[in-house]
Amino acid sequence: MILFEKKVNVHPYQEFFVMDSSKENRKKEQLVDQYSRTISYLRLSITDRCNLRCLYCMPSSSLVKCADLLSYEEMLRIVGLAVDMGMNKLRLTGGEPLVRKGVMDFIRNLAKIKGLEDIRLTTNGVLLHEKAVDLYSAGIRNLNISLDSMKRERFAEITGSDLFDQVWQGIQTACELGFNVKLNVVAMKGINDDEFADFAKLATQRSIQVRFIEFMPIGNKDSWDKTRFIAASELKEMISTLGTMEPSPGSRLEGPARVYRLTTSNGQTGRIGFISPISHHFCDKCNRLRLTSEGRLRACLLHNHETDLKALLRQGSTDSEIQKAIQQTILNKPKGHTLQDDLAGLDQVNCQGQMSRIGG
Ligand code: 5AD
Ligand code: SF4
Repeated sequence: MILFEKKVNVHPYQEFFVMDSSKENRKKEQLVDQYSRTISYLRLSITDRCNLRCLYCMPSSSLVKCADLLSYEEMLRIVGLAVDMGMNKLRLTGGEPLVRKGVMDFIRNLAKIKGLEDIRLTTNGVLLHEKAVDLYSAGIRNLNISLDSMKRERFAEITGSDLFDQVWQGIQTACELGFNVKLNVVAMKGINDDEFADFAKLATQRSIQVRFIEFMPIGNKDSWDKTRFIAASELKEMISTLGTMEPSPGSRLEGPARVYRLTTSNGQTGRIGFISPISHHFCDKCNRLRLTSEGRLRACLLHNHETDLKALLRQGSTDSEIQKAIQQTILNKPKGHTLQDDLAGLDQVNCQGQMSRIGG
C-alpha cells in the first residue's frame, strides 16, 4: 500500500523532470539581455583570410597573426560552452571559411555537439564545387553565397579575381545536392544596379532565394560613399516593376531579411529578400553574438566593444568563468546602432573594424 501511494504521488521521473526544466529555464535566462532579446545565435569568423578581395571588404593589409587566430580546439570549447548555455544556432563565416585548413574535420566535430541544432555557412563560393559533397555529408544544409555580379568581367573587377565561372559551378552543384541556397547581393549604385532584375529573375528560375543587402560603411571604408548607397525601399520598388510582390509566409523567421514572393508576368515565382541594416535596422530583434577570428566576442557588428575570450582561454580559465564572460557580453549588448543618423549627417561614417576579421 505504501509502495502504491509512493508510486502515485511521486512518479520516478517526476523529480528529474522538475529539476531539468528549472535548469533549462536558468540556462535560458543567461541568454536574455537587458532589452529582453534572447541571444541564441552565434556567428563564428573562423579566419580573416580570403581568396577574394571584394572592393568593399579587402582583407589584406593587417591580417591576424596565425598564433592569434583561435585554434579549432579553442573554437570547439567556446561553442560547446555557448551551446551548454542554451545557444543552438551557429554560422561559420569569415573571411572565407573554406580556405582554412582542416575546416571539414572542424565542421564534423561541431556537428557532434549535442544541442547545436543548426550549423550554417557563409561562403564566397570559390571552393564550393570541390567541398559541397563533404559539407552536405557533415550536415550543413543552408548556404549563404555572396555574389554581386553575374557578369564575368564585372565579377573580376569587384572581387579582384576572374573566378565567376568557378563560383557559378559551385552554386549549381550546391543546388543539385539539395542545399538551401541564398545569394547575398550587396546593392551598389553605379556598380551592379543594372543587374538587380537579372538576380530577381534568377530567383524565379531556380530554387534560390536572392537577398539584396544595403551597402554598409564597414570593411573597406574607401569604397563606400553615400552616392553608392541604395535603400532597401528603393530596391524593393525596382524589383516590384517585374511583377507582384507579397510578403512571404514565414518571412519573420528569416532573421534580418524581409522576404517577398515575386510573381512575374509570366507566372514564375521566386523569393526575394531585402536586408536593410542601415535604413531599417533590425536591432530590436537581434539574437546574435559574433566571435571574431582572434577570439573576441562581440555583441554587435557595429559597436567596437569586444570581450577577449581567447585571453581567458589561454590563461587557463574554467568553463564557468568563460560562461560568465559570455553572459556579461550578452548583458552589455547595446540596444542598437545609429548608422542611419550618422548617414544623415556625414559623408563618410567612421568605419568600425574589419568585416573579414569580425565576420559578415
Ligand atoms: N556592406 C554590405 N554587405 C557586406 N558584406 C560584406 N561587406 C559588406 C558591406 N560593406 C556582405 C558580403 C557577404 C555578407 C557576409 O556580408 O557580401 O555576403
Ligand atoms: Fe572575401 Fe567575403 Fe570579404 Fe569578399 S566580402 S573579400 S568574399 S571575405
